[in-house]
Amino acid sequence: MSAVAVVGLGAMGSRIARRLLDAGHELIVWNRTAAKAAELVELGAALAASPADAARRAEVAITMVANPQALQDVTEGPNGVVAGVDGSTTIIDMSTVGPAAVSRLASVVPEGTGFLDAPVLGSVLEAESGTLHVFVGGPDSLVERWTPLLSELGSPTHVGPLGAGAAAKLVANTTLIGTVTVLGEAIGLAQALGLSRDATFAVLSTTSLGTQAEQRREAIETGEYPPRFALSLARKDADLIAAAAAAAGIDLRVVEAARSWFRDADDAGSGDRDYSAVLARILQSR
Ligand SMILES: NC(=O)c1ccc[n+]([C@@H]2O[C@H](COP(=O)([O-])OP(=O)(O)OC[C@H]3O[C@@H](n4cnc5c(N)ncnc54)[C@H](OP(=O)(O)O)[C@@H]3O)[C@@H](O)[C@H]2O)c1
Repeated sequence: MSAVAVVGLGAMGSRIARRLLDAGHELIVWNRTAAKAAELVELGAALAASPADAARRAEVAITMVANPQALQDVTEGPNGVVAGVDGSTTIIDMSTVGPAAVSRLASVVPEGTGFLDAPVLGSVLEAESGTLHVFVGGPDSLVERWTPLLSELGSPTHVGPLGAGAAAKLVANTTLIGTVTVLGEAIGLAQALGLSRDATFAVLSTTSLGTQAEQRREAIETGEYPPRFALSLARKDADLIAAAAAAAGIDLRVVEAARSWFRDADDAGSGDRDYSAVLARILQSR
């Protein structure tokens, strides 16, 4: 068992922390909004005074925050994670922040301190049940050392050197944002061409989006999109994918179109709804 710090106790970080606590690890937590740590502290976690304090008390410091700016805020400066590490600490960033943010953090992690990027695919239910897919980037020996810990959260796949985890996560989310928006456009076209709802879903069931269509039908019809993965975070991911593509010099036209739907839905006030509420925007419904 290890002393594990979890910095960032949002929808995903709080559940990851809970699983590690339940598995018997010593847990040290920090969150910008301290109230979100209360339940874990009641269950036995120690509350750190800052991200640096959390890292100082741990063998491994996991960060799970919203975006690149948040990662910078919790890792850099006198109170950041990096200020609390030494040669015996490993930092594992599990946020979806893209390869550029991982490189930036790598540039300030001191020599000798371990660093892995390990973002996840799967949402709150998978985090609770320990069935996340974890894309891990980093050197073999460090990945091997922390695979048992990451296996408590799901299935780790070592995808390459540091930064490869972040890259893999952007690849995975390219399919996520593309699928939901093309589904919305297909249904929107069916509506515009006068197909009945039943006929629309019967047609979609024969296509590669059949399962997606079936899963989303109730939300489309009720206008209830239970929040799991915030739409504002999906917009952030579309922006990260576009930035990574631009840095690599490639043209992702479908991503740009999907990104514009997420931008519109977020700007229209749906940022806190589930990302699938982009369907409501495309269909001009609730
Ligand atoms: N939800 C999902 O289904 C899902 C699935 C896979 C991957 N992800 C990724 O996992 C990461 C976390 O997602 P989530 O759903 O847990 O998000 P969330 O519920 O919105 O939580 C975001 C966390 O980041 C913290 N944070 C934001 N800005 C900060 C700042 N400037 N300084 C310090 N802390 C800051 C928040 O602190 P406060 O509590 O103080 O706001 C909170 O702890 C994101 O990168 C997301 O894209 C999410």
